Amino acid sequence: MELNNCRVLITGGAVRLGRNITQALLAAGCRVCCHYHKSRDAALLLQQESINYSGQLHLLRADLTDFESLNTFAAEAWQVYNGLDVLIHNAAIFFKTPFGQVSEEDWDKFHSLNLKSSFFLSQFIGQKFVTQKSGKIIHIGDAGAKVQFPGYLPYSISKAGLTAMNRGLAKTLAPHVQVNIIQPGPVLLPEYYDEQAARRSIEHTLLKRTGQPEDISGAVIFLIGNDYMTGSEIAVDGGRSLY
Ligand SMILES: NC(=O)c1ccc[n+]([C@@H]2O[C@H](COP(=O)([O-])OP(=O)(O)OC[C@H]3O[C@@H](n4cnc5c(N)ncnc54)[C@H](OP(=O)(O)O)[C@@H]3O)[C@@H](O)[C@H]2O)c1
Repeated sequence: MELNNCRVLITGGAVRLGRNITQALLAAGCRVCCHYHKSRDAALLLQQESINYSGQLHLLRADLTDFESLNTFAAEAWQVYNGLDVLIHNAAIFFKTPFGQVSEEDWDKFHSLNLKSSFFLSQFIGQKFVTQKSGKIIHIGDAGAKVQFPGYLPYSISKAGLTAMNRGLAKTLAPHVQVNIIQPGPVLLPEYYDEQAARRSIEHTLLKRTGQPEDISGAVIFLIGNDYMTGSEIAVDGGRSLY
């Protein structure tokens, strides 16, 4: 697929990894519909910056855990550039849930955003992709989908579900729609990590370092440009999933 003028919806595109992906898409000339939830200031800053890029940016706010408004959001995003070519599911939550202390509320939070919203956005937009006989869905997963992090089980399980969904959607939406997942390792560590938590994250990679946001956005750009991959799981994790 040609990147220039490509119409992309990215969820959670205003901060951290999502922001870097949005910037890479804009630099490649894409027309980006960038979703954000609470990071309004970061999103507005991105809009100011966007004039420096060849691509275009449109901001769209939504709480993706609000199931009732999910299809309305998807329909609005579809209208922005009169259709879409790529859907990138990046928005997710991540926090520690020690076993024995996991509440139903925690469980529901992870599954509602990391899995359920992804499924229903894919259902709405995926069907449109099938009708137009082209489109790509890119999920941002986690190495934890494969090596389930103790202390983060509901999160890891939500990402394992997303990985299963990736394969299922690849089959369901074939032959004209491609669906792939990128499984990052530690790139931007959570801001609340102390030195010990950060050290442990790094020790658990084979390359003994964190990745760069560009390692992830580069994989996204690669997947948009590649027309013969579907159902793939791309580990960009410094070897975290082999540790
Ligand atoms: N950072 C890493 O090293 C790393 C490693 C492995 C996997 N990943 C995966 O990569 C992706 C990005 O990671 P990150 O660390 O950059 O994420 P992050 O900082 O945790 O950002 C999460 C994003 O999710 C959005 N979000 C949170 N609650 C939402 C809600 N209720 N409705 C809609 N959007 C909501 C946030 O939007 P607002 O800020 O606008 O509220 C934000 O853009 C995630 O899927 C994550 O699981 C990241």
